Amino acid sequence: MNLSIKMILPVCFTLFFGLMLTFHSASTVQAESANEKMSAGEPVEPDMHEFMEYVFQPTYKRLKQAMATEPADRSAWKTIKADSLILAEGGNLLLLHDPGKDRKEWDAHSIEVRKAGGQLYKAAKAKDFKAAQLHYQSMLKNCNACHQQFAGGKHQLKP
Ligand code: HEC
Repeated sequence: MNLSIKMILPVCFTLFFGLMLTFHSASTVQAESANEKMSAGEPVEPDMHEFMEYVFQPTYKRLKQAMATEPADRSAWKTIKADSLILAEGGNLLLLHDPGKDRKEWDAHSIEVRKAGGQLYKAAKAKDFKAAQLHYQSMLKNCNACHQQFAGGKHQLKP
């Protein structure tokens, strides 16, 4: 009698701790996926027309004016730095939008805008107007490529 209790006890302990461990790791996994959701971005304005009109359009208009002539002072460069950074980061925000179709191409256009916008930002930080002009034009080409495919060819923007 005494002997069999001695043998069963360790088995009970093993089972009990085994179960505890399983529950613990299950709840850790749940907490992790909840964290992922909280840290993923989410569009504040899912409507593309509104998003382009309020985030991209005014930024592009200011940038176009600032890029028309070589910046003469710090504040003109600052406009170019600020607006190119908004548009480059805007490329990241576009990745959060659901185009409904052709997701791969949508993402590719957005990434190209992010890249060219980022290069424009770097050129503006270095006050290199020649490089800035090149990257500005290349960014707009990529804006237009997305408009060609996803806005029925409308909104072909000029430098
Ligand atoms: C991933 C795709 C995509 C990229 C990249 C993109 N756009 Fe757009 N844009 C759209 C779509 C779609 C519309 C049309 C929205 C509508 O009216 O339904 C639009 C519309 C516009 C409009 C017209 C807004 C209005 O009120 O009529 C402007 C201006 C604009 N985009 C600027 C830009 C600029 C500047 C860039 C690059 C820096 C850019 N877009 C990059 C998808 C894109």
